[in-house]
Amino acid sequence: MEFEDVVRRRRIVRHFKPDPVEPDVIEHIMRITQRAPSAGYSQGQSFIVVTNPQTRRAIGRLCGETDDDPSPFRHHWVSEAPVQVVACVSEAAYHRRYQEPDKLRPDGTEIDWPVPYWWFDIGCSCMLFMLAVVNAGLAAGYAGVVDFGPFRELLGIPEDVTPVGVMPVGYPDKDIPSPSLARGRKGYEQFVRRERWDAGES
Ligand SMILES: Cc1cc2nc3c(=O)[nH]c(=O)nc-3n(C[C@H](O)[C@H](O)[C@H](O)COP(=O)(O)O)c2cc1C
Repeated sequence: MEFEDVVRRRRIVRHFKPDPVEPDVIEHIMRITQRAPSAGYSQGQSFIVVTNPQTRRAIGRLCGETDDDPSPFRHHWVSEAPVQVVACVSEAAYHRRYQEPDKLRPDGTEIDWPVPYWWFDIGCSCMLFMLAVVNAGLAAGYAGVVDFGPFRELLGIPEDVTPVGVMPVGYPDKDIPSPSLARGRKGYEQFVRRERWDAGES
């Protein structure tokens, strides 16, 4: 698929067919995902691929799915996907890397992290993942994690690793678009500013 088509087709999808996805296809997607950049090549990003139906249901519940709420956004869109990919990142990996000699400041101390690069890097990886998913003819959603503890317990994730979000993956079914989309895309002139932030403003 052409790169622009992949980008344009990518949407957050919230309804999946039950058809399984071949493990080879998922591995290919994950190997592409591994090519994302990371600060200092810290590579704090990791992913857990979940296909076990019981675990998927438990993950769905942790993402807010309930059996008794008929609202379209409470249907089982996270657990109905045949594959869930949990995006994880280790902040500790960045501290370890930036305490290596080539990353220390001249006074021998670690940088102050005005931008926490671990969040940046896992975002890059998730975007690459979503594009690879579309390129494979599949679709992905994204459900944020609000309580890390139960996720760590369910999936055996260490304390110094944060499960950032869950990306259900599968063949897309008739989708339920997010009400957020009604906000519309912001104007290109607000998105891209030329030379200065305030150029053109009086
Ligand atoms: C960090 C992040 C968190 C999100 N969390 C959720 C979520 O918890 N549930 C959900 O349905 N969509 C979630 N979304 C999807 C957004 O609603 C969606 O990306 C946005 O409405 C634009 O739609 P599009 O991605 O289909 O273009 C999230 C997206 C991002 C980037």
